[in-house]
Amino acid sequence: MKPNLSAYIEETRSLINQTLLDFIKPQSIPNPLRESMIYSIEAGGKRIRPILMIACCQAFGGNLEKVLPVAAALEMIHTYSLIHDDLPAMDDDDLRRGRPTNHIQFNEATAILAGDGLLTLSFQMISQANQLTDNQKVYVIQRLSEASGITGMVAGQMLDIELEDQDISIEQLEEIHQLKTGQLFIYAMEIGAYLADAPSEKLTDIIDCATQLGLVFQIQDDILDITGDQVKLGKTIGSDLDKNKSTYPKLLGLSGAIQQKEIKINQAKRALEKAGISDSILAQLIEYLSDREQ
Ligand code: IPE
Ligand code: IPE
Ligand code: MG
Ligand code: MG
Ligand code: MG
Repeated sequence: MKPNLSAYIEETRSLINQTLLDFIKPQSIPNPLRESMIYSIEAGGKRIRPILMIACCQAFGGNLEKVLPVAAALEMIHTYSLIHDDLPAMDDDDLRRGRPTNHIQFNEATAILAGDGLLTLSFQMISQANQLTDNQKVYVIQRLSEASGITGMVAGQMLDIELEDQDISIEQLEEIHQLKTGQLFIYAMEIGAYLADAPSEKLTDIIDCATQLGLVFQIQDDILDITGDQVKLGKTIGSDLDKNKSTYPKLLGLSGAIQQKEIKINQAKRALEKAGISDSILAQLIEYLSDREQ
């Protein structure tokens, strides 16, 4: 990673972490729900989605103060999705972000409620963000519901579970990845640009870029489930094979998956150029995400 990229990531990550904790900690939450929500938030995570949102906003000259609460809200949704994704009824995993998963550390009921708590708190956070106009709040909340709900992540998670043990086409798999992971990536970059008042034709290019990047990210996640290092990754390797999930390496082999990833990286880079911001930190982020080991 280039030194300026790693400094940018570190600095932005710590801002996001601070924003999250400053908002969650003063809330009145009964225990063990409180401990369990803070446990998963404090476990870390790469904070990729909020970093992409902030980087995109800044690339179009937007204001950090304005985007930060929305970026933190997105991370709450993502963290909730991971807590539920790990539950026994879903992927049944016991390691996440280098720690026991939420339901292992607490119990299933608490983990379900911690997810529910983070999900709903994310909307509260946006609605209380006084840097945004009322119209902006409504739009940002509407898009977050779409991207994370039944036309986005939740739909993708359903298909991911339903189609375990089944032979599906690469087109069907791409659709699942696009929903379960891609929609939150699109949300991140689109809303970053929107909050910077980027022109609408640029928004189209940004959505194109994020669509490819979301797929690249999930393909790499599928690859790392086979080739990754459990300590670096902080989650159990071989989880997809165990559950007979459809993944890019399963359908195309490792080299086929890598090839698909390369094609999509190039498409993402081209879309970024079209948007006129390929000299921003986003270009480096795309490069970093395609080869990530964590
Ligand atoms: C994991 O996301 C789930 C996927 C959509 C692949 P991340 O790899 O961003 O997880 P954290 O937030 O860094 O733990
Ligand atoms: C999860 O995909 C995507 C979510 C919406 C949480 P995975 O099930 O592949 O994510 P990991 O590998 O458990 O992080
Ligand atoms: Mg899953
Ligand atoms: Mg999983
Ligand atoms: Mg995975």
